[in-house]
Amino acid sequence: MTDRYAVIGHPVAHSRSPRIHALFAQSVGHAIEYGLILGEPGHFREAVDRFRAAGGRGVNVTVPFKLDAFELASERTGRATQAGAVNTLAFDGARVIGDNTDGAGLVRDIVRNRGFAIAGKRVLLMGAGGAARGVVLPLLDEQPASLAIANRTADKAQALAQRFATHAIGVRGGGYDAFASERFDLVVNATSASLARQLPAIPEHAFAPEALAYDMVYGEAARPFLMHALGLGASAAADGLGMLVEQAAESFWLWRGVRPPTAPVLERLRADLARAAGSSTDEKIP
Ligand code: ATR
Repeated sequence: MTDRYAVIGHPVAHSRSPRIHALFAQSVGHAIEYGLILGEPGHFREAVDRFRAAGGRGVNVTVPFKLDAFELASERTGRATQAGAVNTLAFDGARVIGDNTDGAGLVRDIVRNRGFAIAGKRVLLMGAGGAARGVVLPLLDEQPASLAIANRTADKAQALAQRFATHAIGVRGGGYDAFASERFDLVVNATSASLARQLPAIPEHAFAPEALAYDMVYGEAARPFLMHALGLGASAAADGLGMLVEQAAESFWLWRGVRPPTAPVLERLRADLARAAGSSTDEKIP
C-alpha cells in the first residue's frame, strides 16, 4: 500500500503542502499519497486517529492545531518542546512523534538559499505569538550578535525573551519603541499583521546598511511589509515561500529519511504564484 500523509488545518484548502510533497516524492522516486484534511476545531484527535486507522504515516499540522498536535504527541523533539508547538507528526506503531520544523525552515531559507549568514548579526524578531516562539531557538543557534523581540503587546515580548534569560546570547523583549534607537541587520516579521494587510510599527531607522527584511508570510500578502522595509532602507527583502518549502523538506526527511532537493520546488511554487497573480517572476518583491 502507498504510504499516506496529509496536512490538517482549518481552513486547509489553500495549502500548498500537497503540491510541495508531491514534487519532493517525485524528485526522490518515492511513491506517496499526500492529501488535505479539514479538521474541526475541538476534534483534532479524532481526525488524526481516523487518518492513522486508515493507514496514515504522518501529518503536517497548520493553523489552528499546532498546540493540539503538541498535546497529542507521545514524544517530542527538542525543538518542538522549545517551540511549544508541533507542525509535524510521524506515526510509528503506537508512537506519535511530534516535531516542529518551522524554525529550521526559516533559518535554512535565510542562510542557505539567500546566502545571508545570521552569525554575528543583530536580529529583530517582530511578534511574540506562536510563529515567533517557534523560531527563537533556531535563530539563536546561528549565534547572532543579539536578538531583540518586539511586539505590539510589550509584555508578551518580554515574557518570550524571559524564556531565554539563561541563553549565552542576550535576548531582549519589549514594545517597538523600546528598540527605536537601534539598527538591525536582519528583521523578521513573525506577526500575523501581513495577513490582515496591516504593518507592524517597525521603527523608522531599524535597518542597518545591507539589512535583510524577511516576512514569514509569502506571496502578495507579504508585499506591503517588504515594500515598506525597502522604503525604510532594507537592502533586500524576502517573503516566506522558501521557509514553507524548507520546513516541508524537514518534515519529508523526518518521515522518509531522505532530504529532497528544495531549489527546483521553490522555483515551481514561485512560478505558480506568479501565474496566479498574473504577474511576471522577475519582480524584485515576490
Ligand atoms: P501566530 O501563531 O501567527 O503567531 P498569534 O499567536 O495569534 O498568531 O500571534 C499573532 C502575533 O502577531 C502577535 O505577536 C500579535 O501581536 P499582539 O501580541 O500584540 O496581539 C501580532 N500582530 C497581529 N496583528 C498585528 C498588527 N496589526 N500589528 C502588529 N502586530 C500584530
